[in-house]
Amino acid sequence: MACMKQIRVGIIGSGGMAGVRAEHFEAFDDSVVAAVAARNTETGRALAERYRATLYPDWRDVTAHDQLDAVCITTHNALHGEIALEALARGKAVFSEYPACRRPGEAASLMRWIERDDCPVVTYTHREPLSRVHAALRARASRLGRPIAAHFSRVTPGRGKRPQILFNLAQSGPPALFFVYHVHPVLDLFGVWDRVVSTAAYSELRDDDGYERFINTLSVSFGNGALGDWYWAGGVTVPQAEESLRFIFENGSMKRTAQNWESHPASTPDEPIDEISNLEQAVSRRFVDFALDPAQGRWRPSARQAIEAAAIGIAAEISQQEHRAVERSEILGR
Ligand SMILES: NC(=O)c1ccc[n+]([C@@H]2O[C@H](COP(=O)([O-])OP(=O)(O)OC[C@H]3O[C@@H](n4cnc5c(N)ncnc54)[C@H](OP(=O)(O)O)[C@@H]3O)[C@@H](O)[C@H]2O)c1
Repeated sequence: MACMKQIRVGIIGSGGMAGVRAEHFEAFDDSVVAAVAARNTETGRALAERYRATLYPDWRDVTAHDQLDAVCITTHNALHGEIALEALARGKAVFSEYPACRRPGEAASLMRWIERDDCPVVTYTHREPLSRVHAALRARASRLGRPIAAHFSRVTPGRGKRPQILFNLAQSGPPALFFVYHVHPVLDLFGVWDRVVSTAAYSELRDDDGYERFINTLSVSFGNGALGDWYWAGGVTVPQAEESLRFIFENGSMKRTAQNWESHPASTPDEPIDEISNLEQAVSRRFVDFALDPAQGRWRPSARQAIEAAAIGIAAEISQQEHRAVERSEILGR
């Protein structure tokens, strides 16, 4: 894509995140929502009419569209990889909600694509590249020496505000994949991963791949010897949601508290960090900036990281099904 003044975006999907992204693209002077692809005629029509965009029934109408520069993928997880690969083959910049993909072959293909010199811009919606809190965490971590371990735990009652589709293995992948936003920040601090072991229990798993309750465990070994482990339990009978996150480094540790991060030894500055205002809009803005100036390839490191994070969730699913450790090379090659 040569230097251009306005990015014409086709939004795929017409749910919650489609509305959020459409509002952002319309708020910027240098991007516009030109098309919407929706299978849901009611929400699709409402979104397209709101932004005077053309409505298409099939997402391929958008990936193949000559007059669009970029696609914004906001469907359920199962389609992210397939749509992105089709869009790249059609020369479109890709802005996709996480996770980057749902299946192993897609992760490897996306990784091959983004290493190509002629790859259009690819950007995922992880917030860490822009988050002030994450940047401060990185700075603190760098003073505490080599990473040794990360420990995350989340237990939630009921379904909360989550859409029904999230608790569907086929559409969303296992929790170890759809909670990719709990894995991505650790990956960013700990570096290259090399193997995954994961276990899962689902209650009332139905023929349509939906379920009511889950437990997922995930253990990741990193190339530098560090270990990460995650525990998610959802839909279980607890009075309220509980979450904890702790990092252990060679010379100290950090734990997330309700207000901030607490470091030990306490000599490391622990003053509260203010997050940037409207981080979600900044994520959309960053994509438009990348798409307007693709030649710099500034988008590449974070796209790589997002695909790595999704690959961990995909490896977790194989580990759960086959009761074995799964190497990074099995998903992403060497
Ligand atoms: N960045 C963030 O902060 C954030 C927050 C929440 C979610 N997410 C991610 O964003 C994605 C969407 O989440 P959401 O909360 O927006 O879900 P949602 O409200 O259920 O929206 C998903 C949309 O995709 C549509 N869709 C599914 N298959 C399609 C197809 N073949 N063609 C066209 N449209 C199709 C659905 O249509 P129907 O109405 O027919 O189902 C629905 O409109 C998920 O991958 C999730 O992981 C990101």
